[in-house]
Amino acid sequence: MSTASFPEGFVWGVSTSAFQIEGATSTDGRGPSIWDVFSADRAEACDHYHRYPEDVRLMKDLGMAAYRFSVSWPRVFPGGSGKVNEAGLDFYDRLLDELLAAGITPYATLYHWDLPQALEELGGWPSRDTAHRFADYAAAVHGRLGDRVDTWFTLNEPWVAAFLGYSDGSHAPGRKSAAEAFKSAHHMMLAHGLATQALRSGGAARVGTVLNISPVLTPAQVSDFGRQLSEEDAEAVARIDALANRQFLEPMLRGSYPAELLPIIERNGGLGHIRDGDLDIIAQPLDLLGVNYYSPSVVQAQPSEPAAPAYPGSEGVLFCTIPTAVTAMGWPIVPNCLSLVLRRLSAEYPELDLMVTENGADFVDVVTGDGIHDVERISFVEEHLRALLSAVEGGARVRGYLVWTLLDNFEWTEGYQRKFGLVHVDFATQKRRPKDSALWYRDVIRRNGLTETPPKRPTLETVAARSGVSRATVSRVVNGEASVSPEVRTAVMRAVKELGYVPNAAARSLVTRRTNAIALVLSVPRQGDALTVAVVQYVTSMLEGAGKQITLMLADTAESHRRIVQQAEARLVDGVVLLPPDRGDTLAERLSRTDVPIVLLGKPAVASLVPYVDVDNAGGAAAATEHLLASGRRRIGMICGPMDLVAVQDRLAGHRAALQRVGAQPLLALADLTRASGAAAARQLLGDEPALDAVFAATDQLAIGALQAARELGRRVPEDLAIVGFDDIDAASATTPGLTTVRVPLAEQALAVARLLLSRLEGRHTTSVVLPTRLVIRESG
Ligand code: FCB
Repeated sequence: MSTASFPEGFVWGVSTSAFQIEGATSTDGRGPSIWDVFSADRAEACDHYHRYPEDVRLMKDLGMAAYRFSVSWPRVFPGGSGKVNEAGLDFYDRLLDELLAAGITPYATLYHWDLPQALEELGGWPSRDTAHRFADYAAAVHGRLGDRVDTWFTLNEPWVAAFLGYSDGSHAPGRKSAAEAFKSAHHMMLAHGLATQALRSGGAARVGTVLNISPVLTPAQVSDFGRQLSEEDAEAVARIDALANRQFLEPMLRGSYPAELLPIIERNGGLGHIRDGDLDIIAQPLDLLGVNYYSPSVVQAQPSEPAAPAYPGSEGVLFCTIPTAVTAMGWPIVPNCLSLVLRRLSAEYPELDLMVTENGADFVDVVTGDGIHDVERISFVEEHLRALLSAVEGGARVRGYLVWTLLDNFEWTEGYQRKFGLVHVDFATQKRRPKDSALWYRDVIRRNGLTETPPKRPTLETVAARSGVSRATVSRVVNGEASVSPEVRTAVMRAVKELGYVPNAAARSLVTRRTNAIALVLSVPRQGDALTVAVVQYVTSMLEGAGKQITLMLADTAESHRRIVQQAEARLVDGVVLLPPDRGDTLAERLSRTDVPIVLLGKPAVASLVPYVDVDNAGGAAAATEHLLASGRRRIGMICGPMDLVAVQDRLAGHRAALQRVGAQPLLALADLTRASGAAAARQLLGDEPALDAVFAATDQLAIGALQAARELGRRVPEDLAIVGFDDIDAASATTPGLTTVRVPLAEQALAVARLLLSRLEGRHTTSVVLPTRLVIRESG
């Protein structure tokens, strides 16, 4: 078998981080970090603090040459500064000895997001002092561990820590201030510079840092990198690249901020925190840049778009979803972008050594009696390695590749449901089990390369032929059935091993009688409905990723309902996703009486035990109403859509609740779903109540109708009349004035419904999911 080889000395390994695996959050004097305070999840994680010998042994068995881990700052300085907690450092002492004895080279990261809570209370990263505390911490860690660690990374993904932590608020510490985020970013870079100086003066051999670099592309460029852009799109791409990538690359590697970023920072809190001499400290010579790559950022110019909270300064830029395969996180899989990033960095910084310090994927793993056959993860890593190799062949200076990650672990805001590990962890027992991807990676490391052409996958037939039994017998063996004699079992298992056979769905289905087909049933196809489009795209991608086949069915007539129920009763499908179950639909109920698991997109009209995914309609309506009240509106009318729609009922309930809190009376007009009826309802409201100063419409279509009516009646929006909609359809940002509305997450709903179904298929207990909505403020109110 020929091999696509990597350069000699190429470093193979895995990355982890302290808070995501260690557990033992109050052991040996450790203090709390911002993540202990921010996260409600169980803190035990993978209990790596106690199980590190087993984890190191696992890595050794898998042939890892390198292990990137992070040191927990609050173990070393429980109170953020002051006296070093030697007991905390003892843990890393033991870990390093274990690693070195196993022949694994340690790569230490000093900051992977777990700031001591004590420092947060003193101001956190927006405070300059934190940078100095970090340098003290770096010196203390190096003082104790420097004799055994050659390569030090100061920070992990400062963009995420600064902008998700301090602006978007989805990460710890959960603050929501653009000014604080820019300050944090600067102080993290200052911390990096000061720590690098401290490490060097302590004699550190190699110092680097780790950035998440996402190539920024328009949707059209995803399949054609060279595509020429309009001036507007080129500006949008350059601006997001400056915010996400160059904000860190250029100060750290060139000693200056990108010119177009400075006015944005100035508008968001000013430039006062950037002091003379800072950039000289920040731009320390580096030996190695760690690059974390997962997926590209896809954007286009969209004049009316408000700034995304994670990207202050991104006004007028739309973050797009694209029709590609995605991981279970919903992240687009575009391996060639890894190559793009590495080539770009090597072209811009020709002296700099690079290392891919994180790359990997979350997929829904299915644990079977004979292992975890995570074929999607294998092909994800394989395709990214091919992209990496092509960058190396094109001259990129990539010295190694570390998979994210060794173990299924605590994935920040996503908790424990995400599965990025090469090794499965059963969190009830802490038992580790290498997935197929771990064994596959071991072979890649062993041969320092990939097989040139992926070998044709052996099939059930090949195994049957090799072991001289029938297909059904092979299927029984791989499914662990007891009815097979030990001799036959041994023969089959030998053939399975020799051929490297991965039992696939077909083999399993011979025994389990699963068809592997999932029906995606659309009950009311609505024209141009973005949700339906997202559902078809994402549900299909995710379920196909989990080895299912999707059958699309239209449930628009009584006859089609009958046929669908029949198929479920005959078990011709394994599961059903139904959307939407509105309008007293009996299909959901009839399907729920069959044995086939069903999940709904949208809360059903009649309360039932069938799990569903929906958005927080009531919460969104309350937020919209509260926004109108907060901006001084007192007489607010609501245009309701058809009251048999559950979403409309919930939106009305949220609106009423918000009014009730301030003792205001609701004022309602009914409509159907058309713009014309929205206009008519607005006219009616204005006729009934001349003092009306705001309209909240149950959908954007109705709100757009109301805008029209206001214009015809000579009412100025928003001066005389504020208008707020719901859904944030594409047209909402194109109206004049732009429509303030409530955004519902589209891709997330689709992914959640797919995940819910997969959980049900695995027989797990499931509950319904309600996703948050977000008010998008434009000009109309
Ligand atoms: C990266 C983080 C890492 C993990 C992966 C999935 O952004 O560095 O801790 O969460 O994403």
